[in-house]
Amino acid sequence: MTADLETVFDRLKSAFSQGKIRLNEPMAPHTTFGVGGCADIFVEPYSESELADIVRLCAQNGVRYFIVGRGSNLLVKDGGIRGVVIHPAGEWFERIIVEGCEIECGSGARLKTVAGEALKNSLSGFEFLEGIPGTIGGALRMNAGAMGGEIFDIVKTIRIMNNQGEIREIKPEEAAVEYRDCKILRDNIALSAVLTGKPGNREEIAKKMDEFSKKRRLSQPQWRSAGCVFKNPPGLSAGKLIDELGLKGTKIGGAMVSNEHGNFIVNTGSATARDILNLIQFLKNEVKKQRGIELQTEIEIIGEDF
Ligand code: EPU
Repeated sequence: MTADLETVFDRLKSAFSQGKIRLNEPMAPHTTFGVGGCADIFVEPYSESELADIVRLCAQNGVRYFIVGRGSNLLVKDGGIRGVVIHPAGEWFERIIVEGCEIECGSGARLKTVAGEALKNSLSGFEFLEGIPGTIGGALRMNAGAMGGEIFDIVKTIRIMNNQGEIREIKPEEAAVEYRDCKILRDNIALSAVLTGKPGNREEIAKKMDEFSKKRRLSQPQWRSAGCVFKNPPGLSAGKLIDELGLKGTKIGGAMVSNEHGNFIVNTGSATARDILNLIQFLKNEVKKQRGIELQTEIEIIGEDF
């Protein structure tokens, strides 16, 4: 570990009252893919002021940090992550507060739980969140979507923190939102969001969630994965393209193109990040060679090779 990292670790250890901090934390259990090496330092801040301390300390010491929610759209390389991984967890970051048609959620709140709360309160517009495996923070960063909906369709405001620990509230128009991207969150941290729905009928909401869940179960794999690997090229479905080229079932080591959906790579149990990266490259090459289309990854790939 470098001297800068040691300084950050020592200072955080003495400053933290409730948050957790660990050295050399294996990242595989923190991702849905279940692969990847260790993070030098892994911290779970308990409050926004602890989070601000971490980012300021990192900035002062020239140490990189990376935020991980549920790790459901993430491929961590086998050599792990140099620097600090921050996992916002605990009561404050996971809060979900319903007030009228609005739901205020901390960045660590799970989308599934938010959808469940909306159902309980007969609020419609949140149904599509039901089967997305991530947290609010990750969903905002990626402008996550499914079943024709995207998170920013229902965002009223978000609160963000910069790398000096300063907090501000912004509207979606200021967030530079695109398909599967939110540019302002490339270098700011999402702290919370206020989402808005409409008063609805509880049975109808439940029915819609059920339909989405059925559709997902029929079209997507149950194995460990990070969801869709590639962005859909304009007007096309990456999964359908891969399917049409007969590439489903292609295997490299423990990584396999799902037989259910061509845009999913699954970990059959023994995959390494290298296997997955090799399979991604293979698919990109084949699609380029056979269709002339350059696929772009949708999942975030971080860390170092061995
Ligand atoms: N299709 C095939 N073969 C396949 C996969 C799909 O023929 O192997 C066909 C389907 O039958 C359908 C069309 O392609 O006619 C589109 O498929 P699907 O409805 O599964 O949607 P998608 O465009 O492949 C997008 C999102 C998913 C989201 C689904 C459902 C992206 C990259 N993917 O997939 O999001 O769950 O819609 O709404 O935008 C994710 O972001 O990680 C993700 C899984």
